[in-house]
This record gives sequence, C-alpha cells and structure tokens, in this order.
Amino acid sequence: MEYNIALLRGDGIGPEIVDSAVEVLEVIGEKYGHKFNFTPYLIGGAAIDETGEPLPKETVEGCLNSDSVLLGAVGGPKWDTLPGDKRPEKALLGIRSALGLFTNLRPAKLYPALSGDCPLRPDIVKNGFDIMIVRELTGGIYFGDRGYREGKYGQEAYDTECYSRMEIERIARVAFETARKRNGNVISIDKANVLETSRLWRKTVHEIGESDYPDVKCQDMLVDNAAMQLVKNPAQFDVVVTSNMFGDILSDEASQITGSIGMLPSASLNESTRGMYEPIHGSAPDIAGQNIANPIATILSAAMMLRYSFSLAEEANAIENAVDSFLNDGLRTADIVGDSGKTPLGTTEVTAEIIKRL
Ligand code: IPM
Ligand code: MG
Repeated sequence: MEYNIALLRGDGIGPEIVDSAVEVLEVIGEKYGHKFNFTPYLIGGAAIDETGEPLPKETVEGCLNSDSVLLGAVGGPKWDTLPGDKRPEKALLGIRSALGLFTNLRPAKLYPALSGDCPLRPDIVKNGFDIMIVRELTGGIYFGDRGYREGKYGQEAYDTECYSRMEIERIARVAFETARKRNGNVISIDKANVLETSRLWRKTVHEIGESDYPDVKCQDMLVDNAAMQLVKNPAQFDVVVTSNMFGDILSDEASQITGSIGMLPSASLNESTRGMYEPIHGSAPDIAGQNIANPIATILSAAMMLRYSFSLAEEANAIENAVDSFLNDGLRTADIVGDSGKTPLGTTEVTAEIIKRL
C-alpha cells in the first residue's frame, strides 16, 4: 500500500526527531512492502519566519489532503513575545481544530528497564503502571471565548470553558471503547464540585456508560485528587478521560513518573482514519541542533500512526519491540541516562540502534 504523510517538523528539536521517525518508517516500508510518501509543510515559528503566519493555509490543506500527519514540536523563545493569536502554539491548536482531532490518546507506561528513572519510591511502582489518558482536544477553555475587558478593578483578561453534551459524549465513547480493549476501567476526571462544565461532563459520561457500556467500570475523580493519586498509586489507573486543560496538565505529570517525557508518544484522532501523531514533549530549544534530543517519543508516535491510521499492527509492534529491546540492552539517551554512568547516545545513533532492531 501507499500512504501520504504530511510532515510538520516545526521548531527546536522538531526537525531532528521527525527525521528520525521518517528514517524508521522508511525501513518499515522496505521490510513490509509499503510506500510512505512524505511531504513537509511549515508550522509554528518556522512558518512565522517564512510566511508571517504560524499556520499557513497550504499547511492546513496539505494535511487535509494527506493520509496522516507527523508533527515534531512548535515554539521557542524567539516567538514568545508575539501576541497570543500569532504565537506558534496557536498553530497547534489551529491544526487540531482544522482536522477535527477531538481525541488525544496519551499512553504513559513504566518501562521495566527504566524503573530506576522513575522518581516514585520502588514500593509504589513495584507492579508498574500502564495508563491511557484520553484527553478531549478541540474544546474547553483552550478554545473558549477569551479577551480583555474593563472590570471592577480596571482592565481584566478572561478565558472561558464551554463543553457541549455532544463533545463530552463522543470523547466518553472513545474512552469506553478504549477501556474495552484494555482492562475495562475508566476514571473520568473533572472538577464537578466547582465547575458547571464538569457537572455536565460527569452526568454525560455516566449516562453513556450506563446505557452503552455497562461492562466497563466507570468512576469519577476530582482533578486535584487525581494529581495526588497519580503519584500515590499510579497502578489504579487504566483509562483516564478528561477535558482539554486537565488532560494537558495530567499527561505531563504522568510522563514524569515514567522517568522521562522524552519517551511518550501521542495520537490525535477524529472519526476518520486521518490522525496527527506527535511526541507529548515540546520543542526543547535549549538542546536543539545538538543531536542529543531523544527521538523515541516521535518514533513511538509513528508506530501509533501505523496502528491507528493505517491498521498496520504488525509494523507498529515491530517498532515498539525495537524500542523495548533498545532499552533492555541498556542503551540510553541523555534524558534517561540518570546516574548510570553510561554514555548517552545522540539522536542519530538512537535512530540507527532502533533500526538495527526492527
Ligand atoms: C501539549 C502542549 C500544547 C497543549 C501547547 C503547546 C499548546 O502543551 O500538546 O500538551 O497545551 O495542548
Ligand atoms: Mg502539554
């Protein structure tokens, strides 16, 4: 089969890590007889520098005409002082919205080989953990009304959170379906003791659960408690479903307890098979261009693309197994070398080692 993939390399370490994933995909293509065609488009700071816009029209069209999208990361100090709607981050929200990517899957699992890098006590993680965070991605406060106005104390800024029943229902269905393929356990995270949107969230999740997924266990957890439970007993979580902002925050927390944010991939999906795949980490401008960034999160994101967009499970497994074997063989990147005394491998060396194990 032939697949057309749009590449959004972006800023900072984005280009290096996307190129690593492309190399891996090319080898997969040769081994399994697929042809991957890659077309690069500008996004983020790189797009601002060339076109004045963080998300040029050609980029949106190119992504809409592709079978799937692989993204590196956007942003950096150079563009930090631009107004909100001209910032690189705006492009990320814009492309998610333009592609209708309302589901964001962020798996966070503890690799046994990396348990020493986990900042939690060994007795807390002795049985490991394997969490799938299902983050709502195109609604909530990141997309609500915002602006400035005159208030009681003079000028004030505001952002608003808004969720429709439809938006909650469709993300809840994804969570329940995901749980059916895993351990049948959903924890829905909200702030229903304060927020009206959370009360609608909670009510809707339960309605869907009781009517269509009675076989899946569904519990609620308040977000402040969830932040605590993640470090107290991460093994209690199977599938987590939550709003855009809570998912943003909790997925970073979850990544840290795996040892490194440099390892975590993500998939952003809609009802079609076209998805966008990206590491959950950012553009890390401080280490850009030095060949030291960990490309594993992006390589694993490419594996998610094969699985979710192209239904190539065997090929996806091959990549994931190669990463496992890389780690089990004791190879490390700078972010996961800890105090092991090992020499960390650079971006291109990691890529070569993973390709060797495919
Ligand atoms: C993420 C990032 C983005 C988000 C930013 C860069 C807009 O933090 O993908 O988690 O908040 O969604
Ligand atoms: Mg984030």
